[in-house]
Amino acid sequence: DTAGHAHFLVKEIHEQPAAVERTLSGRLDERFATAHLGGLNMDARELRDIRRVKIIGCGSAYYAGQMGAQLIEELARIPADSEPASEFRYRNPVIEADTLYVAVSQSGETYDTLAAVQEVKRKGGRVLGVVNTVGSAIARACDGGIYLHAGPEISVASTKAFTSTVVAFALLALHFGRINDLSPADGRRIVEGLKALPGQIREILEQEKEIAELAAEYANCQGMMFIGRVRGYPVAREGAQKLKEISYVHAEAYPASELKHGPLALISPELPTVALVPDDELLDKNLTTLGEIRARAGRVLAIAHRAPDPKLANHSVLVPRNEPELDPLLLNIPLQLLAYHAAVALERDVDKPRNLAKSVTVE
Ligand code: BG6
Repeated sequence: DTAGHAHFLVKEIHEQPAAVERTLSGRLDERFATAHLGGLNMDARELRDIRRVKIIGCGSAYYAGQMGAQLIEELARIPADSEPASEFRYRNPVIEADTLYVAVSQSGETYDTLAAVQEVKRKGGRVLGVVNTVGSAIARACDGGIYLHAGPEISVASTKAFTSTVVAFALLALHFGRINDLSPADGRRIVEGLKALPGQIREILEQEKEIAELAAEYANCQGMMFIGRVRGYPVAREGAQKLKEISYVHAEAYPASELKHGPLALISPELPTVALVPDDELLDKNLTTLGEIRARAGRVLAIAHRAPDPKLANHSVLVPRNEPELDPLLLNIPLQLLAYHAAVALERDVDKPRNLAKSVTVE
């Protein structure tokens, strides 16, 4: 049951601090500033030979994989990317011995993801699973992996499994990084950042009432644009996906840098923009983009560490600062509440959106 919450979705949003604690539980090693991942079934020597990481998954699992790929590149300096499993399986992919394949799935039953795993294995590749459901088909098909321990997720739209997946990738990136060239000081920085996440997620959830009011106001629109740069871009994609899935409001996600190469033509008062504006080395670039939107009478809702000048953003939701590599996790939390409360304001079937299933086990 929903334990006093109006929907499973909002219950699961509020379960995130506990879910993250479970994903981290017993896996942080303070002494060596690394992570222990007993289920990888790969020793340090095997991991050292990996030259590339290819992540595959569908829907939110694919976007969580994009965040994971960025973490692996940043912390371990190993080239990594994420691709929809549904595309990967049909394009006769080149499977390389020194590439590590990682399949992401909450349910562990998504057919496209399972077929992609089987394709990699058939060609002799090594696949790890980042999976929530213990003993599921994808978990069994993989050579090893990381269980999320996020607890059951009932609502069709993924929230706590998404967050736990990104946390699992942070652990994998830390482990990989410390086997390669990540310094002990940087390892410690990430360990401390991971430990701070549950409390910081709680802080963001305390702003639910304010976010609900903004959601009701912004839901009344033609569509919404989500923008972010580099680390912010997968956050924008997941935010747009969540809004589409449960509120049926049309949403587009773009890298903030691409706006001027096309979608700026869409900007009008009826198409507000949700902008990810972390206080990082790209802040000035992001603020310039907000100015370009405001100059075309676009409305801006900023998700930020510090509120931008009111001339650049009509509204701001502030999130606490973690380490720059982990900030995307926190920037995503207000977007979950935004999508949820937009769907509630529009009286949608929040937990069972039209045309969607929790796990698609057919082709
Ligand atoms: C889709 C669901 O069909 O499957 C999404 O609607 C989900 O919410 C996606 O992200 C992948 O599911 P799973 O179980 O493989 O993570």
